[in-house]
Parts: sequence; structure tokens; C-alpha cells
Amino acid sequence: MNRDECRILSKRFGTRDGHKLPVYEAQGGYRALRKALAELDPPKVTELVKDSGLRGRGGAGFPAGVKWGFVPKDASAVYFMVNADESEPGTFKDRFLLDFDPHAVIEGSIISSYAVSACLCVIYIRGEFGWLIDRVRKAVDEAYAAGYLGRNILDSGYDLEMIVHKGAGAYICGEETGLINSVTGNKGQPLIKPPFPAVSGFLGKPTIVNNVETVAAVTYIVDEGPEAYRRFGTEKSTGTKLFSVSGPVRNPGVHEIPMGLPFREFFHDWLGGMAAGEELKAVIMGGSSVPVLTAEEAMNTRLDYESLQEAGTMLGSGGMIIIPARCDMVELIQVLMHFYWDESCGQCTPCREGTGWLHRIVRRLRRGEGTLEDIDLLAKVCDGMAGLTICPLADAAVMPMRSFLQRFRPEFEALVHESKQPGPDSRWAREIRS
Ligand SMILES: Cc1cc2nc3c(=O)[nH]c(=O)nc-3n(C[C@H](O)[C@H](O)[C@H](O)COP(=O)(O)O)c2cc1C
Ligand code: SF4
Repeated sequence: MNRDECRILSKRFGTRDGHKLPVYEAQGGYRALRKALAELDPPKVTELVKDSGLRGRGGAGFPAGVKWGFVPKDASAVYFMVNADESEPGTFKDRFLLDFDPHAVIEGSIISSYAVSACLCVIYIRGEFGWLIDRVRKAVDEAYAAGYLGRNILDSGYDLEMIVHKGAGAYICGEETGLINSVTGNKGQPLIKPPFPAVSGFLGKPTIVNNVETVAAVTYIVDEGPEAYRRFGTEKSTGTKLFSVSGPVRNPGVHEIPMGLPFREFFHDWLGGMAAGEELKAVIMGGSSVPVLTAEEAMNTRLDYESLQEAGTMLGSGGMIIIPARCDMVELIQVLMHFYWDESCGQCTPCREGTGWLHRIVRRLRRGEGTLEDIDLLAKVCDGMAGLTICPLADAAVMPMRSFLQRFRPEFEALVHESKQPGPDSRWAREIRS
């Protein structure tokens, strides 16, 4: 299979005017919607998506069709929300989809809404994506004008309204119950589950939240069939995956690959290896919330849910951060811990206090004021946070922290030893000067 064949979601990336309706329609756009409305009833669409094996691309990897199946059949109203909050450090693939191919996302959102008989679809976009919000709103207007949205879509009898909701810059609004609260007009804070949104969400009604890439894949699955989708990937990790790659490689950016591709092949053939003068030290495979792997571990794994779990990490959102040899790992984890501390919504004590402690202890070490006991204390603080909070943000801080301690502990210890022999070039002295 050549590389272009597996570009099923990214085929319009870089196409001139690919975001405009006439170009999209000329390339088969809205064919899948016509097919769904004319030939398939909602349960059949759900069945196709189940058969495809599609798992949610927002991070948790939950099977999309199975989630849709949780919506009670007798619900008086159902809502569908597309999660385009995309605030995880290292992740920028949904931005590409919305920028280059907004109609594929809109078409997938309409089909997914139809599958659960939703009456309203909300596309929730990260507030910082200013220009994208205009682009998506224009595309939604085009879809309304063409009869793909509104009342009696394509004479099918199905009605669906769609709105584009602008977030206000909080990472936590990407968590599905935080997102629903934010759309409702409440504080964007997560809720305890159960009840799950598929049963009780927006305005107390069943609400499905899916990631941008998930709904874009639905368009392909309905158009080409589940078997075509399963041609890519492995038995349990079907289809293709978008990876947003940052760091000093020759070809950073968004790449679409078949699931199960060996990282080694992706690194050499897609990314072109490291840029001149750089050496690979470590890789964060799926966004800042997943455990880091050493270069050796990365080279021996494959890019699918199961292989990455076996390697001790997660596929997450596909935000791959390539870390070069020159990177100071303690500095990197300090930046990440600052992020989680800053973004904690503050409801749960272990998260509110724990993220702050993690950040402050790492900062203390980097200032040359830390001790070896502080390194153990970092691990203890993690133990007091993991699995004890309303939402997984606390775990999202704990997972990278633990993995950095486990795999790069000598770098933490070196800071303690160096601080005992301060010289003008010691790391902590440089830190204080900067
Ligand atoms: C702190 C936090 C932030 C999240 N941010 C996003 C996000 O930006 N986009 C996203 O799709 N999912 C995000 N998620 C996951 C969502 O809660 C939810 O699982 C996802 O949108 C479901 O879509 P999927 O099943 O298609 O993956 C986040 C979760 C947490 C805990
Ligand atoms: S874990 Fe953190 S972000 Fe999540 S609800 Fe609790 S305090 Fe808020």
C-alpha cells in the first residue's frame, strides 16, 4: 500500500479551495450523506460504524458506534457535539481537518447526528482558532444554503440544526462534560460520571460528544463501507490515524498513516529522520498527557492502540512530540506540569493542589534548591492524585510525570548533585541567570 492510498482523511490537505463547497462536491462530497439519508436508517448507520471498528480519536479510543448505541431509544431529544477544542500540547490535527476540509467534518457530523437522531449539532471550537471559526461558520452556511442542513434535509424528512460554538480558551472544556457545561452557559467544569452524557448530557438529554477526526472518518466509512475502512490498520485498531508531529525532524506536520505502522518506518520514511545535527532522545507519542518513551522503546513499537499500550504509553490524540538529545527533560516536564497546574479547574483537591505541588517541586529542583527526597516526593504526590479525581486531567499530569521520573531519573538527580557544587556553568546557575 503506498502512502497516498492511505490518505483518506487528509486527501484534500493542501488542495486549492478544498474548503469550499463546489470543490468538495466535485470530489464526491455529500455523497455519503445522500446515501445515508436515502438508503440507510439510523440503526443501520450505527451498525456500519460498529462494523468498521472506528474508535474515538479524541484520546480515549472508545468505539464510536458502541457509544452511539447507548442513547436511549425513547429519548424526547438527542444532541450531538463535535469536540474541536483541541488544546492538548502537541496536538494540531483537528485544526488541519477544519482548515483544509471543513465540509468532510460537517458531512460526518450530519451523518453521525442522523445515526443518533439528534435534532441539534454543536461544533465546539477552541477559542484561539479565530480564523478557523470564520471558516467553519462559512462552510456551515454553505451547507444550509445547499439543503444539507435545516428542515427536511434532501427531502428525507430529517431535520437538523447546526451551530458553531466558540470556546473561551480553557483546556478543560475539551473534557466532554466540561464541554457540555460550557455550551449550556455554566462554568466549563467536568461532572462526575455516571450518568454518562450519552444518557444524560446537554439540558439533561442524551448527548454524544465525538472528536473532529472521528466524525470525518464516519464520512469515509458510510461512503466506502466498513470493509474499505478495515483495509487499513490492524484487527483491533482499524483504519488510519492522523499524527501531528512537532520537533526537529525533517518533515514535521500532520501525517496520515495506517494504524499499526512501525514507528521506525514512520520516523524514517514519513518524517525523514532527525534534522541535521540532531539526535533522537525520546518521543511523546500521543499528546502531552501520555507517558514518554525513550528512543529505543519508540523504535521497537508500532503505532496502534494495543502496541503502544504494551510499550507503556498510549496513542492518545496522536500529538507526537519528537524530543532531541539536547533537550533538558526536567525543563520539559516543568513546562508540562505548569500547563496542567494552570489548566486544572480546581474542583478536586488532589488535582488542584497536586498539579501545583508537582510544578513547584520540579521548579525547586531546577533552581538548585532541591534534594534527593524531593524526587521521591514527586512520585508520592503522583500516588495521591492518580484515579482520585472527577475527570482524568489529574491522571494526564501524573502519567508524564511518572514516566519522566522512571526513564530520566539521572537528569533529576544531576540537578541535586550539581547544586551542591555550584559553578558558573552549572545548570541551576544558568537557570537563575535566565
Ligand atoms: C482534560 C481533557 C481534555 C480533553 N480535550 C479533548 C479535545 O480537545 N478534543 C477531543 O476530542 N477530546 C478531548 N478530550 C476527550 C473527551 O472528553 C472525549 O472523550 C472525546 O471528545 C470523545 O470523542 P471520541 O470518542 O470521538 O474520541 C479531553 C479529555 C480531557 C480529560
Ligand atoms: S481532575 Fe482537575 S480538572 Fe478534572 S474536575 Fe478535578 S480539578 Fe477539575
